[in-house]
Amino acid sequence: MTAPDLFSPITFGSIEAKNRIVLAPLTRNRAGAGNVPQAIAVTYYTQRASGGLLITEATQVSPEGQGYPDTPGIHSPEQIAGWKKVTDSVHAAGGKIVLQLWYTGRISHSVFRGGKTPVSASAIKPSGHVYLPGWTKADYETPRALETTEIPGIIAEYAAGAKNAKQAGFDGVEIHAANGYLIDQFLRDSANQRTDQYGGSIENRVRFLVEVTEAVAAAWGSGDGVGVRLSPHNPYNDMSDSDPVALFTHAAASLKRFGLAFVHVVEPIGTPNPIAPAIKAAIAAPLIVNGGYDLGTSQSAIAAGETDAVAFGKLYIANPDLAERLKAGGPYNEPNPKTFYGGGAAGYIDYPALAKA
Ligand SMILES: Cc1cc2nc3c(=O)[nH]c(=O)nc-3n(C[C@H](O)[C@H](O)[C@H](O)COP(=O)(O)O)c2cc1C
Repeated sequence: MTAPDLFSPITFGSIEAKNRIVLAPLTRNRAGAGNVPQAIAVTYYTQRASGGLLITEATQVSPEGQGYPDTPGIHSPEQIAGWKKVTDSVHAAGGKIVLQLWYTGRISHSVFRGGKTPVSASAIKPSGHVYLPGWTKADYETPRALETTEIPGIIAEYAAGAKNAKQAGFDGVEIHAANGYLIDQFLRDSANQRTDQYGGSIENRVRFLVEVTEAVAAAWGSGDGVGVRLSPHNPYNDMSDSDPVALFTHAAASLKRFGLAFVHVVEPIGTPNPIAPAIKAAIAAPLIVNGGYDLGTSQSAIAAGETDAVAFGKLYIANPDLAERLKAGGPYNEPNPKTFYGGGAAGYIDYPALAKA
């Protein structure tokens, strides 16, 4: 058997992927009325179906989970129907697609929540700005710490999101536990100063993630259609932790019993620590890494056995046929950051494929 490379097939739990090229989850703020994915989203994901696995943009599991303008949800019949068009089209093109389940927590604003204050692990206001509907900038609000008794209700919303994703035809779901959103707010101690069973020790801070994963796996029917995204060192959204290696290795070990489809670690290349391989060993699931990878760095990471697959973000935004381009060794279109967030077709579905480039 030849050693695997980026173009070798791989099995993520119940998902057979034709190669190890993964579309990273990318918020594009182009949902329509009712936060329903539009026809341009069908085109956008279908254009990228030559990758082995597509992970959708972060998708709120409930109206209160939203924190940005025009992000899609997975809590209404209209949203499920909108996503069904995406999954049908991606499947017809030979692709596999999972939905990223999202609850923003303190990275939100009462305007998104019917006037209710954002919730988090603790009442700690993040630095930075929120964008309100219409893209007006505002300060974050100081969130309200969730009562212990409210936590099962939020977990049930993640589980309902997973059930709805199954109904919408997805091949699986990815629990968004990265980048400073609600689950990460429980994990990392810069955002979690709770004194109940969800705060303090590493074991306690991991509890919310474990309970969400348990409920999502039960709602999906098994853990083999469920992945988890973690970002141990990412400071985005005003996050940090006093001992990320211990925290995230313990989190991964706590998730092992669910037999997950994959673990996805956002860890910029060149980060001088072994945390992604340590997480893979602890969780015993295929590893997807992400953060600044190109053809050369992803091929050498797979060849060295440091990862099983690689997710591409900005490169995949600009190159819908990224799998073909990587195979050909390029060339690549340049991403345009001005059209990343919001707008319509421009900068979304009009990057040319190689033959037309
Ligand atoms: C426009 C944009 C939107 C993003 N949206 C999400 C998201 O919805 N969920 C998520 O987990 N990460 C999100 N990220 C982070 C990316 O998934 C990825 O981690 C980051 O772009 C680094 O990978 P890259 O160097 O290959 O672009 C986003 C990044 C960008 C540039």
